Amino acid sequence: MPFESKIKTIEWLGESVKMIDQTKIPYSFETIELTKCEEVAEAIKVMIVRGAPAIGIAGAHGVTLAAIELSKKEKDKKTFLLKLKERAEFLKSTRPTAVNLMWAVDKQIEAAESYGGDDIDGVVEVLKKNGVMLENQDVEINKKIGDFGAAIIPEGATILTHCNAGALATVGYGTALGVVRSAYAKDNTIRVFADETRPRQQGARLTTFELIEDGIPTTLITDGMCGYFMKNHMIDVVVVGADRIAANGDTANKIGTYTVALVAKAHNIPFYIAAPLSTIDISIKNGDEIPIEERGREEVTHINGKTICHPDVNIINPAFDVTPNEYISGIITEVGILRPDYKNSIADAMKKM
Ligand code: MRU
Repeated sequence: MPFESKIKTIEWLGESVKMIDQTKIPYSFETIELTKCEEVAEAIKVMIVRGAPAIGIAGAHGVTLAAIELSKKEKDKKTFLLKLKERAEFLKSTRPTAVNLMWAVDKQIEAAESYGGDDIDGVVEVLKKNGVMLENQDVEINKKIGDFGAAIIPEGATILTHCNAGALATVGYGTALGVVRSAYAKDNTIRVFADETRPRQQGARLTTFELIEDGIPTTLITDGMCGYFMKNHMIDVVVVGADRIAANGDTANKIGTYTVALVAKAHNIPFYIAAPLSTIDISIKNGDEIPIEERGREEVTHINGKTICHPDVNIINPAFDVTPNEYISGIITEVGILRPDYKNSIADAMKKM
């Protein structure tokens, strides 16, 4: 059975949420079960669960866990909803760039508010159901992205990807790696080059893990090598995921993506984003308005707990960068491939959400 269908990255179990601990891969494969909203918030922060769609679903289940806890103390529905919204804001503050987190948490709050009854238990039930719906919908959406994306992969192509936009970054199947999976199902001569993706090495640790487990030929390269391989005609197409796409198509994704896009443009190599519509933030006009998460110094100064530099060196650690829309050949979504002019194609696609 393929890796991506063996286990969900994140799964609601009725009264708790189970997730793969991604900090342990590839050294071990472990899952954890969480019963408190605060535990989910911490799991998102320390990246036990990561990837824009996966943290969205984690956030959604985090709201349900908060509701279960609050329902044991609060009898007044108005106070209950007020406190639930506070917890929702707390969940949303854990990682600022990936808009799927805000989207999914807000979906839960909308569901809670639209419940007509006076009983708090009824709200809890609505949240459980809605969370599971969002969880299942994520996999369906990724399969649609995969099918649309497979059509733009040339026969026998070598696809470069950055970071991990795979089954591990979603509930299952993946966005960029969903495209890879669907393309490989049609043509098993395609190949993947995976950027290592410093500082946290999601490409090396997670992308190679899930693709090799699924038997998809994958070559690991370090981040600085992409220019060499593009210049030497060894990459045919780039497909990456996204954390937030502005209304004009400017796209935030893992740090280093912008560099890949620039090199791809210089060598006339198509550069695609694969993402669900829930990654698009139409309230943001362009990429300059996307908040970029800054993470701690140890991610840069250390590898596997060992320092790699002078202890007094300065560190700046932005987790994401923004690729301007002119470098993007297309945005592969569940409703089709959006093309420039993105302002129009995005506005049209959002009507189908
Ligand atoms: O910091 P991470 O590991 O959460 O960053 C993940 C990425 O940048 C992914 O490319 C993006 O979230 C899309 S995942 C389908």
